[in-house]
Amino acid sequence: MRQFLILAHRVPVGGAFTLNDLAGGGGRMDEVARVVSTAFTLSNDLRRDTELTILFSAEPPPRARRMRLDGRRLKFLSPDERSTAALLKNSLVRSAGVPRDVEASPGLLVGPADPIEELRAFASVPGTLWLTESGSPVTLEDVAGGSFRAVLSDPIDPTEPEVDCLTASGARARSLGPRSLRSSQCVDVLHHAADMTVSPSVVRSDEPSTGGSAPVP
Ligand SMILES: C[S@@+](CC[C@H](N)C(=O)[O-])C[C@H]1O[C@@H](n2cnc3c(N)ncnc32)[C@H](O)[C@@H]1O
Repeated sequence: MRQFLILAHRVPVGGAFTLNDLAGGGGRMDEVARVVSTAFTLSNDLRRDTELTILFSAEPPPRARRMRLDGRRLKFLSPDERSTAALLKNSLVRSAGVPRDVEASPGLLVGPADPIEELRAFASVPGTLWLTESGSPVTLEDVAGGSFRAVLSDPIDPTEPEVDCLTASGARARSLGPRSLRSSQCVDVLHHAADMTVSPSVVRSDEPSTGGSAPVP
């Protein structure tokens, strides 16, 4: 199983923004939508082994929202950013003021939450990765068997309380390389690393090919 948690700091939690201004008034919903799309979509399929939690913390509880997307049940996820943003926005609108979880769309649950408590619960599970530029390099062991759980942030770095929570929870700080990547790129890179532990598709040119995969020229 692959589990992501993304911290979304500025998206208006009630969904009050226009799809024409996702990066501005939408509080970087453009990148959050790209994360969702990258987490679940393949060329002609969905990653059914993936779950993603989004913590919308632009406002404190009880208005803050937790959204859970489950790849086993997801429907209506188009690969384009605007449709995905619309799905998330409509889900936030449906959840606004509702004091319990609602299934706004198949495989998409949204409800009130305390973001720091949710982060603590997720990050406290042994083996959880905290993707950060200042971490130690990610290892094959971190994604062994093609499974992982990972926390990452939207274009705004984690707040001090979030950093304190991640540190206290014992999450493993891991880097995906020397460059600061977009959140959605981190999702791609980690999926790729995990995919490679399950079925390496690149071999050295002096190794015999096992078929189906092209050696690196
Ligand atoms: C766009 S970055 C955050 C802003 C970035 N620190 C900057 O200076 O522009 C979004 C998130 O992606 C993750 N991230 C980006 N680059 C990374 C890297 N090289 N290794 C691990 N995580 C990374 C982190 O979770 C980070 O908070």
